[in-house]
Parts: sequence; C-alpha cells; structure tokens
Amino acid sequence: GKVLRSAYAPPPYTIEHVDLDFILTEAEAVVYSTLRVKSNHAAGGPLYLDGEDLELRSISLDGVPLQEGTGYTRGEEGLTVLSPPAKPLPFELKIVVATKPQDNTQLSGLYKTSGNYCTQCEAVGFRRITYFLDRPDVMSTYKVRVEADKKLYPILLSNGNEVGRGDLPAGRHWAAFEDPFKKPCYLFALVAAKLEGIESEFTTCSGRKVRLYIWSESENKDQLDWAMQSLKDSMAWDERKYGREYDLDVFHIVAVNDFNMGAMENKGLNVFNTACVLAKQSTATDDDYERVQGVVAHEYFHNWTGNRVTCRDWFQLTLKEGLTVYRDQTFSADMTSPAVQRIENVRVMRSHQFVEDSGPMAHPIRPESYLAIDNFYTLTVYEKGAEVIRMYHTLLGEEGFRKGTDLYFDRHDGCAVTCDDFRAAMADANGRDLTQFERWYTQAGTPTVKAAGAYDGATKTYTLTLSQSTPPTPGQPTKLPLHIPVRIKLLDRKGGALLPERILELTEASQTFVFNSIASEPVLSLLRGFSAPVKLDFPLSDETLAFLAAHDDDPFNRWDASQQLGKRVLLALVAEWQVADRQSRQQLELPDAFVATFKATLAASLDASLKAYSLALPDYSVLAQDMSPIDPDALIAVLRFARRSLGQRMRKELLAMYESLTSPNEKFSVAPSEVGRRRLRNVCLDFLAAGGDEQSLQMCRKHFHAATTMTDRLAAFKALAPFPSEALDEVQSIFYERAKANNEALVINKWFAVQASTYSTDALEKVKALTKHEAFDGTNPNRVRSVINTFAALNPAAFHDLSGSGYEYIGTQVLDLDKRNPQVASRLCNNFRDWKKYNQKRQALMKAQLVRIRDCKTVSKDVFEIASRSLEG
Ligand code: ARG
Ligand code: ZN
Repeated sequence: GKVLRSAYAPPPYTIEHVDLDFILTEAEAVVYSTLRVKSNHAAGGPLYLDGEDLELRSISLDGVPLQEGTGYTRGEEGLTVLSPPAKPLPFELKIVVATKPQDNTQLSGLYKTSGNYCTQCEAVGFRRITYFLDRPDVMSTYKVRVEADKKLYPILLSNGNEVGRGDLPAGRHWAAFEDPFKKPCYLFALVAAKLEGIESEFTTCSGRKVRLYIWSESENKDQLDWAMQSLKDSMAWDERKYGREYDLDVFHIVAVNDFNMGAMENKGLNVFNTACVLAKQSTATDDDYERVQGVVAHEYFHNWTGNRVTCRDWFQLTLKEGLTVYRDQTFSADMTSPAVQRIENVRVMRSHQFVEDSGPMAHPIRPESYLAIDNFYTLTVYEKGAEVIRMYHTLLGEEGFRKGTDLYFDRHDGCAVTCDDFRAAMADANGRDLTQFERWYTQAGTPTVKAAGAYDGATKTYTLTLSQSTPPTPGQPTKLPLHIPVRIKLLDRKGGALLPERILELTEASQTFVFNSIASEPVLSLLRGFSAPVKLDFPLSDETLAFLAAHDDDPFNRWDASQQLGKRVLLALVAEWQVADRQSRQQLELPDAFVATFKATLAASLDASLKAYSLALPDYSVLAQDMSPIDPDALIAVLRFARRSLGQRMRKELLAMYESLTSPNEKFSVAPSEVGRRRLRNVCLDFLAAGGDEQSLQMCRKHFHAATTMTDRLAAFKALAPFPSEALDEVQSIFYERAKANNEALVINKWFAVQASTYSTDALEKVKALTKHEAFDGTNPNRVRSVINTFAALNPAAFHDLSGSGYEYIGTQVLDLDKRNPQVASRLCNNFRDWKKYNQKRQALMKAQLVRIRDCKTVSKDVFEIASRSLEG
C-alpha cells in the first residue's frame, strides 16, 4: 500500500553484520545468508523481513530450524519471525533462498545481462536477493563469498576489499570480499562475469594508493579511457573542493548492457549502464562524453554524499541525489565551461522539471507519499533538488557552504539522516536561521517571481518590487512564501554596471528594494545565473531583450534573453498559424527584427558553444508550456517553418560560418573550444539543411562522409532525417551497417532514435516496423527507450495524431512492457501524464488509455501509481 513520510518509525531491529554466500549455477542462484540481528527495544516482538520472488529453502534462529506457522509466517512481500529472543544480545538468523536470475526481467535484484550476473538494489531490490530489513536506516557490515563457473564468469566482484580467492572442483572458483564500512543494503553489489577491463591508480591526498578498474565486455575495451580520466578528475576534485578522500583500496566500475537507469553508486563497485560509461571518438558524441564525465563523477561523489552519509528513509532521497547532482554539475562546470554548463542544466529544468511540476505528478523535492518509490527518481528530486542545494550556496557563499558541508560530514558520517539534518548543518555552521527555507522541501510547484522596477531621475533612485506566488498543485491548494535568493545587477546602456551584482533575499509575498545613487535609468539584469528555480514575470520590450541578448555580462542571462525573444516570436507565429487557412499559412513570415538579432548573434564575438545555444530556437517543450491547449501540429509546423526560414534568409552567413569552423586536419579532442566548434558548425548545418533542397542534402551527405566523429556523423543524419531522399537512404544505411559490423549497440540506439523521432504521416507505421527490425530487442531498456519512448516523447505530432493511433500504440506497449519490466513501463506511461493540457478530443483519447492501463488486472504498482495519479490530478 501507500507509504507516508509522516508514518516513519525507527526499525525495531537492526542487522549489525551480514554474511552472504552466493552459489551461482545455470539453473539458479542459491543465497546463504547469516544475519547478526539485534533488537532496538528490550521487548523484542515479531521481526518482519522484506522478501520478493524468493524461494525459501530454510530458516533457523541461533542454530534451531524454524517451522512455518509456529516459527515464522510468510506473505507475498515478506516473512515474519514470530518470536525472536527478547534479549539485548544479538541473535543469529540463517536463511537459505533460491532465485532464477536468468528469468529476472525486471532488472532489479540479481539478474543476468548479456550472460553476466549483476545486481541493482536501489531502491528496493535487495529484498529480491534475500529476506532482509530492506530500508536505508538499517546499516550493516558485509562479508560476501561468491562461487561460480570459472570459464563463464572469470571476474568475481563485490563491495569492499577482496580477502580471498581460489579454485574449486568441476571448473568452478570462488572469491570473498569484506566491506569495512557499514552500509544500507541498497548499496550492496555483486558481479560475476566475463569481462575485460582497464586498470589505473590514484594516490589520495593522504598518500594512499587506490587501484581503479573499469570493466566491460571485451568489444568495448577501447571505450573506457575517458571514464577512467573522469574518475581520476572526480577523485582529485572532491578532495580539493570538499576535502573528501576515497576510503577503500580499490574502486570498480562495471558497464552493463541491460540497466533500468543511468548508473548506481554501490560502495566501491559502481555499476553503469553502458550508455553512461563508454566513449570513443567514432561512437560517442560530444554530449555523450559530457554525460559520461558527469555520471562517473556523480556516482563517485555519492561515496560521501549517499554512502558514508546516507538517507534515513526514501522520502529523503533528494538529500543524496539533489546534493550529488549539484556536486556533479559544479564539477562539470569546473572541467568545461561554467556558463555552458549552467545553460544546459537550466534547459533541463525548464523543458522537463517545470512540466513535471505543473502536472498531476507534481511533488515536493521531499515527497509526502508513494506507492512505488522507483517512481520518485524524478527530475524534481534530482534537478530541482540540485537547484535547492545551489540556493544554499548562493545564500551562504562559497566559504559558508563549505563550512556547512564540513559540519554535515562531521556530524553524520556513518549515519542515515534527513534533509532537515542537512539544513541544520548549513544553518548552524553559518549562524543563520534557515527555518523558512524548509518550504522548498515541503511545497511542490514552480513559483513565479514578478518584478516591477521604477527609476526616479530626480532622486536617482531605482525601486524594485518583487512578489512571489506558487500555483496550487495536487493536494496543496495554498502555498506560503519561499526564501528566494534573487541575484541582480543594474546595467547602464552600454552593459556597464550602475549597481554591482548582489543577492536580494525575497522572503515575503511582496517586498520592495530601493537603490540609491543610480546615475541613470538602468536596465535590470534579473535572476542572474538562474539563482532560483522560478519563473519570471517581468515583461520587457523586444528592444530591451535584444539589448540584454547582446550586452548582459551574465552569460546565462544573455542566452536567456535570446530565448525569450525567440519564444515571443514563435508563439506569435503559432497563433497566426492556428487561425490561418492553408493558403495564408504559406505566407507566414519571420519578423525582420528577429532575423537581425539572429544575424547579430551569429556575428558576435562569443564563445562558440554559447553562440550555438543562443542561436538554437527554444524547444518544443518550452513553447508548449505557454500554450493552452497545447497544439502539437501548430508548434511543429512553426518550428519547422522558422528553421527553414532562418536557413534561407541567413544562408550566406550560415555558410560562411560553417566554412570558417571547418579545419581539414583537425585532431580529435573534447576540449571545450573543439566541442564548441563542432556544436556551432552543426547548428549552422541544421539551419542550412532545414529547407530540404538538393544543395543542402548534398551538403549533409558530404558532412557525413567527411566526418571523423560521431558528433558530426549523427548531426548529418539528424539534419537529413526529415527529408526522404537518396542522400538520406545512403547515410541511414551506412550508419547502420557500420555500427552492426562493429557491434556498437549504443550507435544502433542512436540510429533507432533518429528514425523514431522523425515526423512523417506514416511515422507510427515506421516505428512499428522498427520494432520488427533485426536489431530490435524488447528486453533491453536502452533499445526500448530509443524506439518506443523516443516516439512518445520526441515525436509529438505523430504521438498526438488525432486518430488516437499513437496513444493506442503506446498504451499497448506500456501494458506489454509492464509484464517484463515495471520500472521501464512506468516511465513510458508518463507520456500520458499531461493529458489535461490538450484539446477535448485528445484528452478523451489519452484518458481512455490511462483508464485502460489503470484498470488492467495485472498492472504493476509502479504503472498503476502513474496512471491513477495522472487521472486524479
Ligand atoms: N542512485 C542512482 C543514481 O542516481 C539511481 C538508482 C535508481 N534506481 C532505481 N531503480 N530507481 O545515481
Ligand atoms: Zn545519484
């Protein structure tokens, strides 16, 4: 049933130590566990252990076998030891269970991937391995022994340090591991596999040598170096920035093909989706390189923020995830470019988190209830959670923030704690009252900050009134004012400062700030760097926006102004398109002023990545948020039109820029300057190709053939994709054949995704055909996502086709997937979540699918929760 945050109670028993022995054979996995259990009360009482899909072979207490009915009882979700000894001393439970990892299609617990064994326990997968108190506030030391066939599974790994290894009869072998750090069971991991790896070493600040390994299937061995570099950079950065040193003698990363999420921070043994660890020039784009660096860092940083200090219960998830995302974001900023990184992070917030926050699944970063905790690994918990951590930094400053984290680690090392504990550490270390700040943890929804400024030339004062409000969200009709840091600066007409940058603390519903000695009428640069996860209501003229887009010295705000201008123009065109007939739709025109701003941006002397992001039009999801009801056809048509039109009207300039960014004998590097060069060049290519004329198609084809990187090859393929042509056929088939010949699964995913996201009148038929393709595999989450989720999420005109065929198809896929993998199915189900934002006809069609899903007798609780909340919200 439903779990409530308010119902938290400490565990009645703790498990001090765990001994696990895994006997892996092709038929089954048998797990022998010995638990040293201690009562937390003198009284004792029944001991409930979680367990799911387990075959119980035996259970004994202090050496005495327990009988079902008298010694223990069993249900669907666990087992109760009826009367454990009521004494303060620990007692010993021995439990033997068997599972079938080869049939575990949920990819939670112990499962097989490409013939190898691996585990995924967060959040509640350990109960699928053995009976246990599967909750993060039960922390234990672990000793693990694994035994398996030596030929099939030469590599045996678990958390901590290896303490023994040997051969056994019949071609089998074993290894044993000890993890000296207490940990909750969600951080347990085991791998038994045929893998190859690379090895390196890191010397910590105190001079300890740590051996580093990255493992994958042999064909990927040449794609591991970047992850290794990223790992070492992360280790050094965490020492420098947070004073956090690694604590074991060894650190492993294992890459697996089948994985529900991105990666997992198991103590000393991180397990990764291949998509977040493999990278080489010919298979990974620059964005992939960035993601690998970020995720490797993220999982490594969890060693302190998540593992050494963990969560008391799953409602506190943002305690480790928000903080760790904030840490990986700032790491990436230090490794690449702070401005580019900030823009990329805010794009995710605005395009995706804001949408989540305005729909039926809206929840605070610390949710109040759940049915399936896996449904709450959300953009809100992760990304908005990171923005909340960033606000502490903004309010307290670099030094104050560090004082806060130092105190947090001092106080809570080895403990399972709460978001309140983190806030208290920040407050206490700085002598600040952060009581009101708690509302960021309790209130859902995106606040709006409204600004009104007035300049009085006679008194040389500038008066700024800021007011805030947060819309109602499901279950939260009214909201209280939040503590919002608003970073501002007053600019003169040349972009100079009339008032240096400062942080205003907005804590009331409305507040007025007065600035004296302002020499002339200023332009307000507001919410610099996106200093809080809010929407702004601050209407500016086109001229002021163009001025800010050119002159604001905050690179984030400069980009933001360009996007606001773009949004304004595009939404006006959408409105025109909607009322126009077929004929007059041909006559839509982009305003000259907008083309002029675009031209100015293209010509500006600006970092290439920043330029590329400023030139890019606001994306579909950002535009859709300002539309009610959302009209996918109009949005897609106008976005296409605008890109084509800019490509045609700016042809000369775009071509010149494209040429100037082409250097014949370039050496591959992911230095920010090179990434920027490729990014900007591919933005130019994309605009140029948007007309679909023969000349552009040939240009893309040439680009593809000349490419030495996946970044460029994929850009050419994407630019060609909407235009059926010989060039497209050629590129599409070479792209596939090459990936197939080289056995590059991640490249094949890209090949699928480009096709699944391309609109055409028969897009759905094409997607159905893709699922029949020789390379399609409905059991591999990455492959399923690249075709089916991509269609639902990134091909809006086809998914929302008025016939309802797209909805019907995705509804069927949700139910079909749910039988194998509820976590992946429930993500797919989210595509129906915002049904109320569409017109009546679409609402009815989407609602019908949600009802069908919710009422399916065999639906999982994961999918049920998404479907039913979507219907209620
Ligand atoms: N803790 C992991 C990370 O953020 C995510 C694991 C999520 N797993 C899940 N089944 N929900 O790095
Ligand atoms: Zn994480």
